[in-house]
Amino acid sequence: MNLRTFPPQVEQLARQWRGEVLTSSTWTQVGDVIEHFESEPFFVRSSEGETGLAKPGTVEPPVHQLPRAAHEKIASDLAFDLGLPVPPVLLWSRSGAGPKQQRYASISALAFPRANPWAMAARLSSRLLPRLAAVASAMAVFDSWVANADRQNDGNLLVSEDDSVSPPVLRVAYLDFANSLAYRWGKGERWWKWEEGVACYPDGVPWDVRSMALAIGEIERFPPATLREIVNRIPGSFLSEQHRTAIREGLSYRQSRIRGIMASMYPGIP
Ligand SMILES: Nc1ncnc2c1ncn2[C@@H]1O[C@H](COP(=O)(O)OP(=O)(O)OP(=O)(O)O)[C@@H](O)[C@H]1O
Ligand SMILES: [Mg+2]
Repeated sequence: MNLRTFPPQVEQLARQWRGEVLTSSTWTQVGDVIEHFESEPFFVRSSEGETGLAKPGTVEPPVHQLPRAAHEKIASDLAFDLGLPVPPVLLWSRSGAGPKQQRYASISALAFPRANPWAMAARLSSRLLPRLAAVASAMAVFDSWVANADRQNDGNLLVSEDDSVSPPVLRVAYLDFANSLAYRWGKGERWWKWEEGVACYPDGVPWDVRSMALAIGEIERFPPATLREIVNRIPGSFLSEQHRTAIREGLSYRQSRIRGIMASMYPGIP
């Protein structure tokens, strides 16, 4: 599958960040903490001139309760391997963090210029929805695999119609996996075995059965060794052993159930 529509320089960064876990660059906060977002995120710039969104900014809830940065990194790495449009992520151990600031953060590279949250782009929905069918159908499978509990959120999808390239490209980024994986699975086996899926987003997007079936096949065939590697390489300070085990087992169990999970919501899946 290749449903990634990031500009070439972001895609190049994505290849590099997929091979790394912790950033070795120096990052500086640019501007204030962005208000109205749960995790108190803020923009950062690196000594090399890259820009990203750092999150969580707050220590609440603590990492051992909700390993948000680890969730962002794991989801981004899995999506990269599957060809799905989640921006590149690195972990950031923020040594200068104050007592109320989160030391164990993630940085999500800026997806593309002039990114509009769906909240703003929705007014163009009659034009955009048909063009989002393939990517939204594949992302529903991915969200269902990782049990993303925050898809119905019009700040977590960014779009941009980029006409600076020929032919113009509709750039898309699906964001914010803080409340996925161990968010529920940390409560025990029964939670990752709970076969509930996540619907296509945004609402009203046409369902593309071919794209959904392709995504199901790719997740079913996702190499177990790569899955383990992606989860196991997260440092212990970002992810407790209990959560690590839940994430490994949850992903592995749901990999074998993903077809049934999707078919129960979208009858007609082969
Ligand atoms: N990689 C990115 N590129 C561009 N903009 C981004 C990126 N990541 C986040 N943003 C912007 O920052 C906003 C907040 O990011 P995000 O949703 O990840 O934070 P959050 O605190 O978890 O949000 P919420 O309150 O929905 O839980 C997004 O709605 C988006 O507008
Ligand atoms: Mg969000």
